[in-house]
Amino acid sequence: MLIRRPDDIPSSEITPESTYVNRRQFVGAAGALALAGLAAPAVLGASRRPATGEAQDDKLTPEEDATSYNNFYEFGTGKDDPKRNAGTLRPRPWSVQVDGLVKAPKRWDLDDLLRGLAKEDKVYRHRCVEAWSMVIPWQGVRLRDVLARLEPTPSAKFVEFTTLLDPQQMPGQRTATLRWPYKEGLRLDEAMNPLAMLATGMYGKTIPNQNGAPLRLVVPWKYGFKGIKSIVRIRLTDTQPSTSWNDAAASEYGFYANVNPTVDHPRWTQAKERRIGEFLRRNTLMFNGYAEQVGSLYAGMDLRKFY
Ligand code: MTE
Repeated sequence: MLIRRPDDIPSSEITPESTYVNRRQFVGAAGALALAGLAAPAVLGASRRPATGEAQDDKLTPEEDATSYNNFYEFGTGKDDPKRNAGTLRPRPWSVQVDGLVKAPKRWDLDDLLRGLAKEDKVYRHRCVEAWSMVIPWQGVRLRDVLARLEPTPSAKFVEFTTLLDPQQMPGQRTATLRWPYKEGLRLDEAMNPLAMLATGMYGKTIPNQNGAPLRLVVPWKYGFKGIKSIVRIRLTDTQPSTSWNDAAASEYGFYANVNPTVDHPRWTQAKERRIGEFLRRNTLMFNGYAEQVGSLYAGMDLRKFY
């Protein structure tokens, strides 16, 4: 049975961060009470419960956590490296090379590429393949609106994204942790799904360098590594592009990388996740809770094979 869910978490239903931060001590206390077998309904009842039947709240992750606990290997492999090291990235001026199967390949100035497109505010769950998660308010544009501007030719089937390659600005690229530049890709119909966005902001501010300034992909039903940061190239192709983590370890990181609690990572379970700021682990939801919006993209596909 399909259970209706909103396409995202409406910003209005999210506890404002200031309230949440103030409430943190209380939630901590509530957790302790719950562990002691005592209910704390006044605190827990104040936040939103998704309509899944599962008693899981989606409180906004504090901005401080979302901007200081990061994966951005171009600035180091530690979670606190990106914030410390990403000051060398210069997000303006910025251009995006558009090529491959589009009507008119060209290098776009980022501001021209986005000019006039509808701005979106979306609060999405963010689930890393490493089994931690957050809830983040993004600002940006729909990827489909950008693609419409680029006019893919009828033979285009995939979109490839590439991060900046510049070891001066990105010192982690002096080390061969991954094959640089970082690359990611989507099937064109996935990219056209209304949930997919190109973010330029978060928490109502310009997106910080460590989170992928000035332009970063957000595909909330997929593991976080699909959300490529600091994009400098968008290429339309008729064949599935190679992608960084899939190249590095194909048996561990698939091209599709849809959040799927029933398909474990070879080295850990994907059935549960640790929401940053919470004590107890929570259940991971199929397609990260966005099954109703994206499930049909994968109809008839064996999600164990196309993981
Ligand atoms: N993009 C680039 N260019 N380099 C990276 O190392 N890490 C990915 C993804 N995008 C990464 C990247 C991974 S593994 C995750 S989980 C998310 O970014 C983390 O995004 P966050 O730091 O905003 O939470």
